[in-house]
Amino acid sequence: MDFSSFKGRSLVNWVSYSPEEIRRLLELARTVKEQAKSGECRQRFAGKTIALIFEKRSTRTRCAFETAFGEEGGHPVFLSSNDIQLGAKESIEDTARVLGRMFSAIQFRGYSQKTVETLAQYAGVPVYNGLTDEYHPTQVLADVMTIEEEFGTIEGKFLVFIGDGRNNVARSLMIISAKMGIHFTIISPRELFPDRNLVETCRLWAEKSGAKITITDDIAQVKGADAVYTDVWVSMGEESLKELRTVLLSPYQVNDSLMEKTENSSCIFLHCLPAVKGQEVSVEVIEGTRSRVWEQAENRKHTIKAIMLATI
Ligand code: CP
Ligand code: NVA
Repeated sequence: MDFSSFKGRSLVNWVSYSPEEIRRLLELARTVKEQAKSGECRQRFAGKTIALIFEKRSTRTRCAFETAFGEEGGHPVFLSSNDIQLGAKESIEDTARVLGRMFSAIQFRGYSQKTVETLAQYAGVPVYNGLTDEYHPTQVLADVMTIEEEFGTIEGKFLVFIGDGRNNVARSLMIISAKMGIHFTIISPRELFPDRNLVETCRLWAEKSGAKITITDDIAQVKGADAVYTDVWVSMGEESLKELRTVLLSPYQVNDSLMEKTENSSCIFLHCLPAVKGQEVSVEVIEGTRSRVWEQAENRKHTIKAIMLATI
């Protein structure tokens, strides 16, 4: 596969990637997964370094980047915001230019989307968004891979996100689904609908891909879903909203009764994790036979490796 058009590119969200490019990344992820399973040991990042900047906590994203990069012979350097000057005593622009002189790539997880976009603008090396308040692009590539593995195809599949419809995961799922032809519905209280502009933009992509994008507060719309996806009610940085969210989102818990409403015995359950069992999802569902959350978590590593291989 030729990835010359990917070299040097950042991933701040999926907006600037075409469906064909996302398809190629999915194919590469499948290949690297097969290589990893067969025990093939390659050194494709030998002599390379990546800076992993974290303002927020992480298990999966950090470990996926570190292990994927390290096992290919590269050297990952973890930098928490307690360790470096990032917008505190040094501007983001200056930090970006310095790190860009030392590292082959940069990953950023934190609050502001503007920060990751500024890093990407100034670093001169690929910058990956490992989650901001607005987007979580690396997550949703793994999610699409998981759906494709389950059903053999994503074409015409129907994904329902239920919960906080304006959060980083829901918004990113809407973008990638619209581009890739996955029918996508957000079910959430009206107060938590995603912003209209993003929905309209996604509908334009969906016209081309054949996807249908629906935003509703009606739980019955889960009928026919091939995959039901939820995420925490309170994202990192929003801890003060816990009580309000619990009131708003309790009727939207994913439990056996909700899964029954799909009327689809092949419907799977997805969650980006970490999960608060008993809140957004019942123990029965996340631990049950429909759950694919561990496959999904594993696929974070293969998809992140594919993104780095294509762009570095
Ligand atoms: N899904 C996900 O991004 O997990 P972490 O917060 O543990 O990285
Ligand atoms: N919406 C969640 C996702 C965690 C992976 C958060 O931002 O905390």
